[in-house]
Formats: sequence, structure tokens, C-alpha cells
Amino acid sequence: MSLPAWAQVSPERRAHIERVVALLNRWADAMHVDAKERDRWLRAGWLHDALRDASLGDPLGHGIVAASRAAADGERDQDVLSAVRYHTLGFSGWDDVGRMLYLADYLEPGRDFESAERAELARRVPTERDAVLREVARRRLEWVLRSGWPLFDETKDFWNSLVERP
Ligand SMILES: [Fe+2]
Ligand SMILES: [Fe+2]
Repeated sequence: MSLPAWAQVSPERRAHIERVVALLNRWADAMHVDAKERDRWLRAGWLHDALRDASLGDPLGHGIVAASRAAADGERDQDVLSAVRYHTLGFSGWDDVGRMLYLADYLEPGRDFESAERAELARRVPTERDAVLREVARRRLEWVLRSGWPLFDETKDFWNSLVERP
């Protein structure tokens, strides 16, 4: 698979998407998932930012519209669709597809911040996936709060699903 025909992406965005897919592929190897599961991860990777550079008004909406377009295009796997739909916010209802995409989107090596720390987190994913997921979610949540952005219910519920209740 590759980018869907309806994708609207700049060359830089395409390169990001390709790095996300490559990282998902690497983790699928390391975690010995079967071919069907690998294919679900890669489909989510190719789809997640396919409309990131379309003029949609709200940049947070690009996952929602990409999921709708993918569904119209024949994607039937509800967990692949929710991975794409909520990849910017997090989602407590995710299965492994949404979780792995969320990790790959943040940990892919082309982003130009905290490269060494993120590489170390990426290396730990196959053996300590849930611990790394909490760490990535914490970092992203901190970023939202520091930026003074609103905290969406999906993000709050996702975070609460990752931590132990007292
Ligand atoms: Fe995105
Ligand atoms: Fe992305």
C-alpha cells in the first residue's frame, strides 16, 4: 500500500508519512506481529496525514476528514479508522493500531526536537510499549498545557485510560 490517490500532501509531509510507516514496519518486525496486523498498522500510517495539507480550516480536523474519506473509500476496519480519526488527540477506545500510530507519529526520527530522547523511546517500544506510550502521552499533554490550548475530552480520557486509578 502507499498514499491513497486522494491524498493532498506536500513533499515534506509525504516524507514524514513515509518515516511513520517505516517506523511502524520496524516495530512490526521487532514485535513479530502477523501479516494482517502489520497491514493494519501500515494502512493507518499511510492514511493519518493524507489530508493534512488540504485546506480544511481547522488543522485538528485532518484526522477526522481523512477517516471519513478512507471509510468512503472502502476501509472497513473501525480500529484503523479511529486510529486515523484521533491521532492528534488520543482516544481511550484504541486498540493496538491507534496506540502504535500515536507512538510512531511522535517518535519518527525526522522531527527536529529531542532527537536523542525520542530515538531512545522508539528503541524501547517493542519491549516496553505501554510504558513508552504513557511517556509520550505525558509529553504531548504537557505541550498542550504549556501552549495554553484547550484540553479535549478525548485527550483527558486517553490519559486516564493509561494511568492507574488511586
Ligand atoms: Fe496529523
Ligand atoms: Fe503525522
